[in-house]
Amino acid sequence: MTPRVLAIANQKGGVGKTTTALSLAAALAMTGRRILVMDLDPHGCASAHVGIFPEAVAASSAEVFWAASPGAVPWERVVTRPEKAAFDLAPSHARLADMEWDLRERKGKGVLLREALASGPAYDHVLLDCPPHTGVVLVNALVAADLCVIPIQTDFLALHGVRNLFDTMRALNAALPRPVPFRALATMCDRRARACRRVLALLREKFVGRMFETIIGLDTKFREASAAGCVIQDIAPDSRGAREYDALAQEVLSL
Ligand SMILES: Nc1ncnc2c1ncn2[C@@H]1O[C@H](COP(=O)(O)OP(=O)(O)OP(=O)(O)O)[C@@H](O)[C@H]1O
Ligand SMILES: [Mg+2]
Repeated sequence: MTPRVLAIANQKGGVGKTTTALSLAAALAMTGRRILVMDLDPHGCASAHVGIFPEAVAASSAEVFWAASPGAVPWERVVTRPEKAAFDLAPSHARLADMEWDLRERKGKGVLLREALASGPAYDHVLLDCPPHTGVVLVNALVAADLCVIPIQTDFLALHGVRNLFDTMRALNAALPRPVPFRALATMCDRRARACRRVLALLREKFVGRMFETIIGLDTKFREASAAGCVIQDIAPDSRGAREYDALAQEVLSL
């Protein structure tokens, strides 16, 4: 069974990619589905957030790129279950930052992740927490994605930053048999601020039919959850942030 792959991507940093990957994974897991989060960011924030420290693990997401063939990825060593999580994790590795070099002579290097997931372990959904920079790892994630979720901080500068990702997607779309399907997700939205509401209106104009209806508001519980090594649903299941990611999960399932 091939899982549905969701790439959580935006080349702008600090927009809520990792928070979205983990909170959406937890919300999807709560519906009884089998979920894997792959930490593809060499900084390893998703891994650390759930108490898995990349320097202490036996194997990581990088194995996907190092395996002799996509069928040879040692998934049983790569995948781990964080103590407090209802989903599995493939942790990060600092060497993910050097994949350009490691794969310099590899043929078909853009499809390694897609092929590895097609013959990999059985999950309903695989969520890819993408690095905030362009490169072979991000290209692999976008090529593997059935849906690219683009968190956009509800802020004027964030609109400017998202251009890089669309440049990458345009270049890929010219080479792929089908364009990368995507949905924009407004994050960290302060509904009381008029500037935020204006950016939201701009986003809705720009992404007609390509934007999640769910809006993720500002919630201090997200930071509390990362400090506690878990996701927001664990520490504050009734918080606004937790309920918004539950709504996002329903929307993702309905697409
Ligand atoms: N909706 C929210 N409300 C309040 N804080 C949030 C929200 N979403 C994320 N944060 C906080 O903002 C910070 C950045 O979020 P996150 O790490 O998810 O972004 P990112 O896009 O993955 O960043 P990077 O590009 O560095 O990987 C974190 O401290 C996180 O706890
Ligand atoms: Mg991140």
